[in-house]
Amino acid sequence: MSHRYAVFGNPVAHSRSPEIHQAFARQGYDEVTYERIEAPRDDFAGAVKAFFINGGNGANVTLPFKEEAFRLCDRTTERARRAEAVNTLWRDQDHGLHGDNTDGAGLVRDMRRNHHWQIEGTRILILGAGGAVRGVLGPLLEEEPDEIVIANRTVDKADALAEHFNGAGIPVYGCGLEELRGHFDVVINSISAGLDGELPPLPEALFSQRGCAYDMLYGAGDTAFVAWARPKAAEVADGLGMLVEQAAESWFMWRGARPDTAPVIRMLRGETA
Ligand code: ATR
Repeated sequence: MSHRYAVFGNPVAHSRSPEIHQAFARQGYDEVTYERIEAPRDDFAGAVKAFFINGGNGANVTLPFKEEAFRLCDRTTERARRAEAVNTLWRDQDHGLHGDNTDGAGLVRDMRRNHHWQIEGTRILILGAGGAVRGVLGPLLEEEPDEIVIANRTVDKADALAEHFNGAGIPVYGCGLEELRGHFDVVINSISAGLDGELPPLPEALFSQRGCAYDMLYGAGDTAFVAWARPKAAEVADGLGMLVEQAAESWFMWRGARPDTAPVIRMLRGETA
């Protein structure tokens, strides 16, 4: 039996989710169709409803609809409630529309299992304080770092996020980019470089001796942040692994099985046919 999935976004033409989920399906699962649906900005709810009425089994949600998807759900997972955003949807007869957020789990899984980085007991710095950061803070805190600092151009947004996620027994601080001091074991970037490809100015000595750099963004070559961090950090990674891992986590929520992500990451990097 064929299963029907889709990713909703606007714009959505750039989404690599169809490629990823079709690669998962080729690992011996039932046939899968996975389409891109560009929902109108003023009628995401209508587009989702139509998809499920017409036999859709599950959907991913990308920008700019993750917060609206959260509000639309009848039931949500704990991690979606912490993020106040949903990237994975499914329906069941009795309980209506379910929502989950697999972004943070995808990031943590990529850092820990694919890159073998330690998170427990580390000092983490996060650059940026937008929706992408809100989505990953809960799962990062579950890994029990010593502390998390959120640095953002708009300090109020960093402070608000820090306040929202404080209280789990692990200190979370907000600050401005120019206030950054000290060394960090893991630096996670979510600031997209401007059209000129420039990152905002950052201190040169940001990394501890074994400090690692993770860019939640990805691109065809090195991202601006990866290029900046490469000579300074012990290890660097871009967000392609997170993209595949969050997709695998969605697949797990829909199908109850875990696809093998390593060959799919290699395929997306163009390393295998
Ligand atoms: P996302 O969902 O990817 O997090 P977002 O909510 O628009 O997207 O957040 C973008 C982040 O990049 C924000 O932290 C933003 O800083 P502000 O909160 O001050 O706007 C940051 N950002 C974008 N362009 C930037 C720039 N040129 N310099 C510094 N920070 C920038």
